[in-house]
Amino acid sequence: MFGYACYTERFGGTLPGVKEHLDYLEDLGVTYLHLMPLLRPREGDNDGGYAVQDYRAVRPDLGTVDDLRDLATTLRSRGISLVVDLVLNHVAREHEWAVAARSGDPVHRGYFHIFPDRRLPDAYEQTLPEVFPEFAPGSFTYEPELDGWVWTTFNRWQWDLNWSNPAVLTEFVDIVLWLANLGVEVLRLDAIAFVWKRMGTNCQNQPEVHAITQVIRAVTRIVAPAVAFKAEAIVAPRDLVQYLGTGTHAGRVSDLAYHNSLMVQIWSMLATRSTALGRQALTALPPAPSTGTWITYVRCHDDIGWAIDDHDAAAVGVTGEGHRRFLADWYSGAAPGSWSDGLVFQANPVTGDRRISGTAASLAGLRERGSPAAADAALRRVFLAHAIAAAWGGVPVVWSGDELGQPNDPGWMEEEGHEADNRWAHRPRLDWTRAAQRDDMHTVAGRVFSGLARIARVRGSLPQLHASAPSQILPGTDNGVLATVRRHPSGLFVGLYNVTEQLRPFPLGWIHALGVNRPYEALGGYDLQVGADGILLLPPYGAWWVVERPDIGEPRTG
Ligand code: GLC
Repeated sequence: MFGYACYTERFGGTLPGVKEHLDYLEDLGVTYLHLMPLLRPREGDNDGGYAVQDYRAVRPDLGTVDDLRDLATTLRSRGISLVVDLVLNHVAREHEWAVAARSGDPVHRGYFHIFPDRRLPDAYEQTLPEVFPEFAPGSFTYEPELDGWVWTTFNRWQWDLNWSNPAVLTEFVDIVLWLANLGVEVLRLDAIAFVWKRMGTNCQNQPEVHAITQVIRAVTRIVAPAVAFKAEAIVAPRDLVQYLGTGTHAGRVSDLAYHNSLMVQIWSMLATRSTALGRQALTALPPAPSTGTWITYVRCHDDIGWAIDDHDAAAVGVTGEGHRRFLADWYSGAAPGSWSDGLVFQANPVTGDRRISGTAASLAGLRERGSPAAADAALRRVFLAHAIAAAWGGVPVVWSGDELGQPNDPGWMEEEGHEADNRWAHRPRLDWTRAAQRDDMHTVAGRVFSGLARIARVRGSLPQLHASAPSQILPGTDNGVLATVRRHPSGLFVGLYNVTEQLRPFPLGWIHALGVNRPYEALGGYDLQVGADGILLLPPYGAWWVVERPDIGEPRTG
């Protein structure tokens, strides 16, 4: 599988409009299409559709329910799985359940967490982190019609549901089956980490979260067994793998989960030109259980939060706090020598956290008017980052526009409701003029598109990259190099990634010792050559996928 994520309106205008661009997606090698929230949201600001007013209607400007069914059917006929969001932590304030709760209906009041005064909210706030400290501080909103405070983790118009109420569970099971019947193949469980609240905790990753996922999945498996679930849990590294099922939940929760930690480490390695922390952090993480796999990505529609574990940082001689500060400085362009054009999202003066917005191209420093050498280095960083993600293990997902090297959208704040939310800078409309240049290697669009399409194509041809063979990190390499090994019955894979702008040596003997006799670089399509000293030289920001040389002449499958 090779994934692509976009907003329907920013990619194809409408759901029928997306159908006009399936050749484009096929050119890129896409087999998995995540269309961002498309069920009917509230009017006005709706957090990019994550404030759903009606789960059984499609956003009117995108089309109808029939259009959605039709698109899902067409995608299937072209070998593309449709992925849609299931926003289950909260509904829009305008959803009929919330409206009924405000009108005093006790049944629907029971769908939400409502408190008569500040006593319990204040107690919870003691340990609750701020999700949107700038534009939605606090986690509770006073609603006069409720005569009380309602739990609102995100914006004041996104009301958290009370998942301890079984009625909420059955409502959502019904919604899941309805979406499955339309042909949706993967459901992205939005903000799943937040669904269970417990006093004295950060109200994320509670054990009940996994029990709830298990119930929803069990029911779905009975009637629509091909539907897969994807956990959107952007949580600390040590809390991540549980979303793929561990302990009593093994094999019974989500099939897919975002590898947020890999994404953060990719950017960290590029900024520091060192793989020391990345090797430590990624080695410390348990591999994905065999029943599930990662969504690997370079960035998504959200900001990047610097999920650096303090213990990992300490193990390589830095502090978590200091390194997070460095990464925020680097990617906002504030650090001396930074090549990055990211934007600070939601600075939190209390914790010092500064998350970062930006497209892959802008984060990597690709500028329209930079020097050719600077542009070349940035393009190499973009390719390297995607090559690491695509060969890590799991389903790689490219964010719309990144395949053309699109920069941050300079007009991001012009749309109503977007003024305060610079995540819109990295959610640009797909630039179809650029897309038309995708075969022209003299253009940025052509270079990036052909690079990512090659990654998708070569990846699809290598059985070694099946998710069942997890990546292991080769210890003891030069700090400028990340070396990963995947052992699959069909053969060995060695990923070699140079995160610096200098040539880096790598002994050929190591590759032989691992068991690759005639090393072949699959991304470039050539045999690896060395001089008499037996040392390979990895080019600046080089990404090599090394496998046993395929026997030319012998037909290859896959
Ligand atoms: C998820 C979405 C994010 C949204 C939040 C609230 O994290 O990715 O965009 O703001 O949930 O729904």
